[in-house]
Amino acid sequence: MSRKPNARKQQHVPLIDLHILCYLLLFPATTTKSEAKCSSGCNLALASYYLWPGTNLTYITTIFGKPQSEILKYNPEIKNPDSIDKQERINVPFSCDCLNGDFLGHTFSYETHRGDTYNNIAHVAFSNLTTEEWLSRVNSYPALNIPDGVQINVTVNCSCGDIHVSKDYGLFATYPLRIGQDLKTVAAESAVPAELLQRYNQGSDFGAGNGIVFVPAKDENGKFPPLPLGSGDANTL
Ligand SMILES: *[C@@H]1O[C@H](CO)[C@@H](O)[C@H](O)[C@H]1NC(C)=O
Ligand SMILES: *[C@@H]1O[C@H](CO)[C@@H](O)[C@H](O)[C@H]1NC(C)=O
Ligand SMILES: *[C@@H]1O[C@H](CO)[C@@H](O)[C@H](O)[C@H]1NC(C)=O
Ligand SMILES: *[C@@H]1O[C@H](CO)[C@@H](O)[C@H](O)[C@H]1NC(C)=O
Repeated sequence: MSRKPNARKQQHVPLIDLHILCYLLLFPATTTKSEAKCSSGCNLALASYYLWPGTNLTYITTIFGKPQSEILKYNPEIKNPDSIDKQERINVPFSCDCLNGDFLGHTFSYETHRGDTYNNIAHVAFSNLTTEEWLSRVNSYPALNIPDGVQINVTVNCSCGDIHVSKDYGLFATYPLRIGQDLKTVAAESAVPAELLQRYNQGSDFGAGNGIVFVPAKDENGKFPPLPLGSGDANTL
């Protein structure tokens, strides 16, 4: 073989050209595909806010910028807004937007207080609806140098449903998992079959004790609203 170096060389040249050609042909295609992750969001999603000791409805209305009357519509079991300590979680309505054409979420504006860190804003103020990592990615302030009294972005992910899983569910809660929960308990609490919950959250470990999952939720009439007709393939998670 080493006797014909020229012949070998000539064979390799067209192969290299073919590689470049493949790249040129494939690259624009891949780019377009990754840009079209969402085209629109939905008007309504719910944040499942776990109530830590000392929090109250007034604080929650401030954090989410929603009037108490709007929040109460999605929490029919609350009889007295001044005493919510029997509640474990509160559903807070928000709009689920297609952010940067890339993913479904909503960016809340939060005013920082002395001593705030991305960690306590995610873990306490927003009750694990978002994460420290996610906050440091959507804000320009370095994690160790967040000024007091400024507005920062708090992005909470959401879902509008998935036509490939079921047409019967069109409203979803962003639900932070806690220690002690698993697929069975979340299924029982939400009244949604476990198998369906897992299909909406492929790869999620419901027993992990942390992380968010998307759980079908009831609307203000106490019913699971279906996916709107014609919402088609617009959105997945
Ligand atoms: C509501 O909670 C906030 C945050 O924990 C607290 O600062 C405020 O005093 C509470 N308000 C009442 C009426 O308890
Ligand atoms: C948020 O998650 C952290 C770590 O998993 C946990 O320690 C904390 O209690 C959680 N906060 C709330 C309000 O559940
Ligand atoms: C929200 O979604 C984005 C895009 O899919 C992902 O990178 C990010 O980790 C998610 N954030 C949380 C808190 O799950
Ligand atoms: C919040 O997000 C917006 C839009 O991406 C960006 O222009 C702004 O600088 C962000 N705010 C901070 C404090 O980083």
